[in-house]
Amino acid sequence: MKRHKSRSGRFFAIGALGLLLLNGCANAPSILDPQGPAAARIANLWWLLFWMAMAVLVFVFAFLALALFRRRPVEVDAQRAQQRGIRVIIWAGVVMPAIVLAVVYVATLWTMRALATPVIPEGLTVHVIGQLWWWEVQYPEQQFVTANEIHIPVGQPVRIVLSSPNVIHSFWVPELHGKMDLMPGEINETWIQADRPGVYWGECAEFCGTQHAKMNFLVIAQPAEEYQAWLQQQQQPATTPTDPLAQEGQQIFLSANCLYCHAIRGTDAVGNLGPDLTHLASRRTLGSAIQENTAGNLAGWIVGPQHIKPGNLMPQSDLTSTELQALLAYLATLK
Ligand code: CUA
Repeated sequence: MKRHKSRSGRFFAIGALGLLLLNGCANAPSILDPQGPAAARIANLWWLLFWMAMAVLVFVFAFLALALFRRRPVEVDAQRAQQRGIRVIIWAGVVMPAIVLAVVYVATLWTMRALATPVIPEGLTVHVIGQLWWWEVQYPEQQFVTANEIHIPVGQPVRIVLSSPNVIHSFWVPELHGKMDLMPGEINETWIQADRPGVYWGECAEFCGTQHAKMNFLVIAQPAEEYQAWLQQQQQPATTPTDPLAQEGQQIFLSANCLYCHAIRGTDAVGNLGPDLTHLASRRTLGSAIQENTAGNLAGWIVGPQHIKPGNLMPQSDLTSTELQALLAYLATLK
């Protein structure tokens, strides 16, 4: 009796561990907390598979318990015993697995069909390009480029066109849709839709080099008016600074090596190796959503990009602290 108790105790411990794993990362985005129709379909499929697997598990353990603990009756008729054994194999080993697999297969096909790209209104196409290790975000119809932040209108499907000039990356916003690869030499497409306004975490889901784990992005779903305002603001070229310190900072930006890699629309800087900085100050994060966009973090990034993200293309700068202050003052005007 005592032995039995400790066994069930262990069973509960395993169950509790499972629940802990499911709930443990409460703040991490989860596919089980869908915020859009595509992710909701995927979550439904996940739960179906989960409960079917649970049912199979319980069934198997029940038979195991039966085999272990039931007292075997003395079978007199050997032929009958053999026939019963064959029946068990046919039902439990062939018919039931076939039914389970057929249900999984049909449910998967059903989900895949439901995930087909819906009719997408004009103007809602975003090109996302996987760089090492950040995301270039182009709004082709609105003709501007940004980075690591994708704004979408709430409640509308947005087409995401994916490509990569270097290695394979994978675009994943767990709360909005499944993963889709960015392939060199190929164009892939996916779509996202958010039911509620909010900021949704995205990340690269395919190992793409040393900084793969620091290749994140944000999807920001906004009400229509707010989204339109953002579009209009992003379409504007950068404002010319009026503050003397910021003006000095602009000169530093244009005379240092910054402009070979970065673009700021409205200036001579048209580099395209690094993120477009035209509206840098309007973004929430730096370095592909690894840091909050604050003056301190930006200074740290400019002075030591290789400390924060070793292997990225941005070289160490040799600015003096006064030059850095001026540069920061200028970058803060890029709203
Ligand atoms: Cu890009 Cu991993």
